Amino acid sequence: MDNPYDRIPYLGRSHQQTHIEKIACIPFLFDIPFPDVHHARVLELGCGDGSNILNMAYSLPNATFVGIDGSEVQITRGQESISITGISNLELFHCDLLDVDSSFGTFDYIICHGVYSWVPSHVRKTILQICSQRLSTNGIAYISYNALPGWRMYSMVREMMRYHVRHIREDHKKTEQSIAMLQFVGQHLVDPVDSYGAFIRETMEHLSHSTSEYIFHEYLEENNQAFYFHEFIDSLEEHNLQYLGNTDFNTMNNLHFPEETQNILDEISNNIHNLEQYMDFLRCRRFRCDLLTHNNRELAREVTLNPFTKGYFTLSAFHAQDENLTPKDIFEDILENIFIESQQKALKDIPIFAHTIQSLFEHWPQYVHFDDICSYVQNRTMDFSQGDKVEIAALLQTLLLRNTIDLHLFQPKIATEVSHRPCASLVARAQIRYQFSISNQHHTMVALKDIWMRKILPYIDGKHTFEELFSIMQGFVHEDPSLHEQEASFHKAKLREFLSILLQKGVLVS
Ligand SMILES: C[S@@+](CC[C@H](N)C(=O)[O-])C[C@H]1O[C@@H](n2cnc3c(N)ncnc32)[C@H](O)[C@@H]1O
Repeated sequence: MDNPYDRIPYLGRSHQQTHIEKIACIPFLFDIPFPDVHHARVLELGCGDGSNILNMAYSLPNATFVGIDGSEVQITRGQESISITGISNLELFHCDLLDVDSSFGTFDYIICHGVYSWVPSHVRKTILQICSQRLSTNGIAYISYNALPGWRMYSMVREMMRYHVRHIREDHKKTEQSIAMLQFVGQHLVDPVDSYGAFIRETMEHLSHSTSEYIFHEYLEENNQAFYFHEFIDSLEEHNLQYLGNTDFNTMNNLHFPEETQNILDEISNNIHNLEQYMDFLRCRRFRCDLLTHNNRELAREVTLNPFTKGYFTLSAFHAQDENLTPKDIFEDILENIFIESQQKALKDIPIFAHTIQSLFEHWPQYVHFDDICSYVQNRTMDFSQGDKVEIAALLQTLLLRNTIDLHLFQPKIATEVSHRPCASLVARAQIRYQFSISNQHHTMVALKDIWMRKILPYIDGKHTFEELFSIMQGFVHEDPSLHEQEASFHKAKLREFLSILLQKGVLVS
């Protein structure tokens, strides 16, 4: 069967919110039982080339992963990565998800990212059926989809692009021409400053940062159906599934809204489904990553401080795309903008607050356990008491609700320094064969723009010292005459800087 992903493969990516430890954070916060991530059995539906679960399998060696995808080209690529890395707790199958049956067994986590909106309705039904039939007792399914009302505006762009290329057969030409058409609209708008003009300009800006395979599959393919949250929730009922939560925990509550808005939202929403739907209206939400579980489970969504005393934490702002932002900028931004209006001034002067943030950015890229944050603060504060630990837990809760920090359930094997024989993650070294972006141990992507970085990465394997890596780099110089002009000292500095970037970005492992 013709699969458009065989012709135009999707770029293999790690999606942080799909990592099973991020999924498990939601029941962890609600104090609801969930399968142990370290020993879980995991299925990814529509896994592309398997990059997402390959990186998870590397970080959780005692869990087992199965990925299926209908694209033979992508699965073959993934199987090559498995054999190059030797990662053995992952299997990838070229298979239609309509063919998933009881022979697959049951799974503790089922991930289906970027598929649900992009397939016909009978396949969507099958996705929910698989979740219902193949999830273990306390199992959790993750399904992402394009959401309304936000996606409505993008579907308008999609319809215009599809109209323009309706007679073109060649995929690359279709993508090229659809972008050209949007540029034409953007440059010849009747009223460039009205809301339509602003939206078209914003979309052009967004697409200018997108890869051509993303544009092709998102804007030009036949299926792309967005849903209101309430429509998605309604479709769960016949499959005996229920909504558990959203991977973006901060979006599940209304505490960021002004008090008046909070009060009205509370008044018009008699349950979590209504509340989330109204908040999607206010936010004009366009994408959701929802978690599901069997509907025979009792769910309470009270969040106490207890889980905060057991978790690991990182500053989420460090994932910001702005490479010019220094840790100091981020630290000061948090101090300035923490959203506790009444206490804002006072908070800046509370040493516990400042030391907690300080401990997170000093330990970056490591995840920091609550106990280690407390020890850090205790070593810098006079008269530290048990009550201060409660203060720290409350502060971490506020920061999580503001999306300023991330919560984690384990410590990945991230290096704390550039060692004598530095080692980049196995997965990153396999990915660089096909693409410029690699997965890190935070399960996010790191773009390697520099050709030097991409060439030397496979050799940063824990076997070569700095001097050996440097002489490998010198070999590249001999191969490429255009690099001759640069001094050896320049190359050494460049290698040092590269290793330090890999350390900061969580690509080096211990
Ligand atoms: C947009 S891509 C998402 C890939 C990956 N999950 C990600 O987000 O990076 C959609 C994937 O679903 C797969 N797919 C679509 N319909 C399928 C089906 N009926 N059975 C198996 N895979 C399917 C496609 O081959 C493609 O790899």
